Amino acid sequence: MLLLLYVACFVSFLHFGQSNNPDCNNNKSSDKNANGTVLPVVLWHGMGDTCCFPFSLGSIKKLIEEHTNGTYVRSLQIGANIVLDYESGFFIHPNKQVDYVCQQLAEDEKLANGYNAIGFSQGGQFLRALAQRCPKPPMRTLISLGGQHQGVYGLPKCPTLSVSSCEYITKLLNYAAYEDWVQNELVQATYWHDPLHENSYRLKSSFLADINNELYINERYAENLNKLKKFVMVKFLNDTIVQPKESQWFEFYAPGQDKHILPLNQSKVFKYVGLELMHKCKKLFFLSVEGDHLDISKEWFVKELVPFLLEVD
Ligand SMILES: *[C@@H]1O[C@H](CO)[C@@H](O)[C@H](O)[C@H]1NC(C)=O
Ligand SMILES: *[C@@H]1O[C@H](CO)[C@@H](O)[C@H](O)[C@H]1NC(C)=O
Ligand SMILES: *[C@@H]1O[C@H](CO)[C@@H](O)[C@H](O)[C@H]1NC(C)=O
Ligand SMILES: *[C@@H]1O[C@H](CO)[C@@H](O)[C@H](O)[C@H]1NC(C)=O
Ligand SMILES: *[C@@H]1O[C@H](CO)[C@@H](O)[C@H](O)[C@H]1NC(C)=O
Repeated sequence: MLLLLYVACFVSFLHFGQSNNPDCNNNKSSDKNANGTVLPVVLWHGMGDTCCFPFSLGSIKKLIEEHTNGTYVRSLQIGANIVLDYESGFFIHPNKQVDYVCQQLAEDEKLANGYNAIGFSQGGQFLRALAQRCPKPPMRTLISLGGQHQGVYGLPKCPTLSVSSCEYITKLLNYAAYEDWVQNELVQATYWHDPLHENSYRLKSSFLADINNELYINERYAENLNKLKKFVMVKFLNDTIVQPKESQWFEFYAPGQDKHILPLNQSKVFKYVGLELMHKCKKLFFLSVEGDHLDISKEWFVKELVPFLLEVD
């Protein structure tokens, strides 16, 4: 059984002032990185992947090193070895993973002055949870590649799992996602978002409803997220894995049906997680790219994403 280490939250209500001078947390003098060096980069892999496969994050790590004059890149391994790391993507509760990573990063001296982060698929929402729950060491720019910030409703494919395991997981999600034992033992259930049963989702989702402040408003989450300098969300226009693909830009179905997408600025989470303020502060970046889930070319990565990593102020 996997224990669920639930992060105790300070519960209170957010007040969004209509002031013309929003507090954007852009205090340069407190920014330790304002000394002209490229920040280290932390990568968080997706489901069905690991920290270090040479054809996957291993090659991304090399690519970043090549284009940032050898900055330190840490690709997160969740657990003591690569097998556990692979399994973590399905079976280790995200709350536990985020706690683990928070500890790991605190012990990494090279990150003490801050880091940029890139999340692949579900690694995108896990890194966002890290930014919200674990502000030290400070994350500066978060790049989410195909992340599911309002969850998924449907899992048409399970990368690299056998067909029978995938069918089993899909069945669990469709029929039992909000059962406690499934929430505890299947990662994908923790961000399963059923728009036909919004209340069950809010009450039972043991990860996503929490980080999206949908059950309680945890002011600290919004404050910490706003400590980011930039939050970059990349959507894959021809994604056949993330349903709906708009979740990659933090959008989702309007409640009560599964066809029509509610624009982000009309959705509750826009206020709940402080995105409205971040939008006013021009910290949100929405990129899209043609192709299926995580299908990016090296050229695109270097042209569109590396410039974020090279920013030094
Ligand atoms: C900016 O940060 C510095 C150092 O942490 C602090 O002394 C100063 O009061 C801050 N200024 C503002 C306007 O918050
Ligand atoms: C690249 O890094 C090396 C060693 O860390 C340094 O000597 C060199 O000046 C750097 N080059 C650039 C273009 O920043
Ligand atoms: C400059 O930043 C780098 C990396 O963030 C850090 O290692 C170094 O100590 C900083 N130097 C100064 C003088 O603050
Ligand atoms: C991908 O999706 C975009 C937007 O929906 C569409 O314009 C484009 O033709 C699609 N590309 C492919 C290869 O299907
Ligand atoms: C929401 O965003 C759309 C474009 O993204 C914009 O046209 C519209 O004015 C915005 N609505 C509000 C209430 O800010």
